[in-house]
Amino acid sequence: MNDVVISRAEGVLTIRLARAAKKNALTAAMYEAMVTAFADAQNDAEIGAIVIRGGDGVFTAGNDILDFIAAAQGPGDMAALRFVEALATLETPLVAAIEGAAVGVGATLMLHCDLVYAAPGAHFHMPFVDLGLVPEAGSSLLLPQRVGMARASEVLLLAEAFDAEDAHRLGLVNAIVPAGTLYEHAQARAAALAAKPRAAVAATRRLLRGDRTDLHAQMRREAQAFAQALQSGEAQKTFLAFMARSRGL
Ligand code: COA
Repeated sequence: MNDVVISRAEGVLTIRLARAAKKNALTAAMYEAMVTAFADAQNDAEIGAIVIRGGDGVFTAGNDILDFIAAAQGPGDMAALRFVEALATLETPLVAAIEGAAVGVGATLMLHCDLVYAAPGAHFHMPFVDLGLVPEAGSSLLLPQRVGMARASEVLLLAEAFDAEDAHRLGLVNAIVPAGTLYEHAQARAAALAAKPRAAVAATRRLLRGDRTDLHAQMRREAQAFAQALQSGEAQKTFLAFMARSRGL
């Protein structure tokens, strides 16, 4: 799987999205590779943290829209769903390093991260409504909890994009780091986490997250609504319009 590159250093497993020609849009195979990497990290005593990052000026353009189009023909293989479930149940601390676009699940996944670092040019977008879809990855619960209902409505209902400074102000990003040192910085923070007493980190993380019953119930509701929306003519029209636009049709 060349589109997801896994490496290990200083107790940190790094997941690098490497499908630059398609802005790191996520395919089923890429989701599977990330789910496997999460499980590998969790089962490896050497690993104490995970970094997820993009490269070549982009984090990820979110789910591959061609896969959304294919989903109209049937339920698909649910790889995206397995990925968001793995995110929500991951026990290894997760650090995101974001440069460029973080769209769809590329933006909602940061709500599951322990630490998020962004380059000054990072921009975030949860365009679900504009695509005829609904939020996923628990974002309809986690985002209002984090930023308040007023701001969450702008981001999820009006589908307004926001930049690194907004994200920092909202407390979604820990720090804005110059693009040239972003990945080094994220690796250093993740290595610092990995070097701490593991059981104390794990227990603190569980305490910070609290009871997750509501989150899992909300994710099930989102998944149902998302699957329904995906089949709708409204959504399929927006996907075809995106593909036509990007092919200059
Ligand atoms: N799925 C499939 N292909 C995608 C994609 C996606 N989510 N995002 C980008 N691509 C492809 C484009 O079709 C294009 O392919 P081509 O060169 O074969 O035509 C290539 O990646 C470059 O994309 P482009 O739109 O030209 O890049 P940009 O720098 O102008 O814009 C984005 C970058 C991320 C802002 C823009 O691509 C975008 O909005 N993508 C869709 C995001 C989205 O709605 N994702 C779903 C979220 S639920």
